[in-house]
Amino acid sequence: MRFAERLVRAYFDCAYNVVYDFTTARLSRFRKLQARCVAELGLAEGDRVLCVGLGTGNEIPRILGANMAVELTGIDYSKTALKRAVRKAEKLSKNIDLRLMDARNLDFAPESFDKVLCIHVMDFVGDNRDQEKATREIMRVLKNGGKFVITYPSDREEKLGRSLLRDVIRDNLDSGKHPFRAFWSLVAQMLTGLVYLPLLARPGRSFYSGHDLQAMIGRLAGGDFQIEEYSSYQDRIAFGKRANEGGN
Ligand SMILES: C[S@@+](CC[C@H](N)C(=O)[O-])C[C@H]1O[C@@H](n2cnc3c(N)ncnc32)[C@H](O)[C@@H]1O
Repeated sequence: MRFAERLVRAYFDCAYNVVYDFTTARLSRFRKLQARCVAELGLAEGDRVLCVGLGTGNEIPRILGANMAVELTGIDYSKTALKRAVRKAEKLSKNIDLRLMDARNLDFAPESFDKVLCIHVMDFVGDNRDQEKATREIMRVLKNGGKFVITYPSDREEKLGRSLLRDVIRDNLDSGKHPFRAFWSLVAQMLTGLVYLPLLARPGRSFYSGHDLQAMIGRLAGGDFQIEEYSSYQDRIAFGKRANEGGN
């Protein structure tokens, strides 16, 4: 593994996934994106579902809450994230298969899953070539006719960061808290947000135009898919079914 990649992975283990449940996971914009993606999966009883880049496991209650009878497998390359995900799974007393794995090299047989979900992970999977590799892996482990929902970044994070900061300030001003408490809550949130700054220096940062994403998904998944612009979180959601000729 390249040195820069090791650094990014260590960052996810030691910083990002440590604060994740108190920061990104609480943002209403992000929760709406997650809910939108899970709804698009159209879960059905008995589905074998794979979550790629499951993180600290915030998708677990959403998926199992929507349909308790699915077989859920989650992978992430951060041990810290998986430890937290295990705790969430235990709280639900559910048997979930959680594994340490890189999204670019999925250790599953072809056509193992009915559905694959991958939310806000491609943003961090190296450059466009790595993202294509991870997408190809998702299509490989998805059954013919199986459904995928994957988000891809549509712009640089600086813009999103500024607009999320405006949200945090407005939320605190409108919170009805005593001004002193609102001020300290704002300061705490802004300081925690500093943990995300190193992300701006990671190598290979890249994002997709609608046209480029359309071309890549068409090549890897086949014809039956859509790309939705999800501008409030600067993402494009690619969703659809893997067609027979896809996944190669
Ligand atoms: C923003 S979090 C998203 C977590 C989860 N999908 C959610 O919506 O809450 C991104 C996750 O991707 C993981 N990740 C980044 N690159 C990865 C890779 N190459 N393979 C597996 N996981 C990766 C990180 O460890 C992190 O947990």
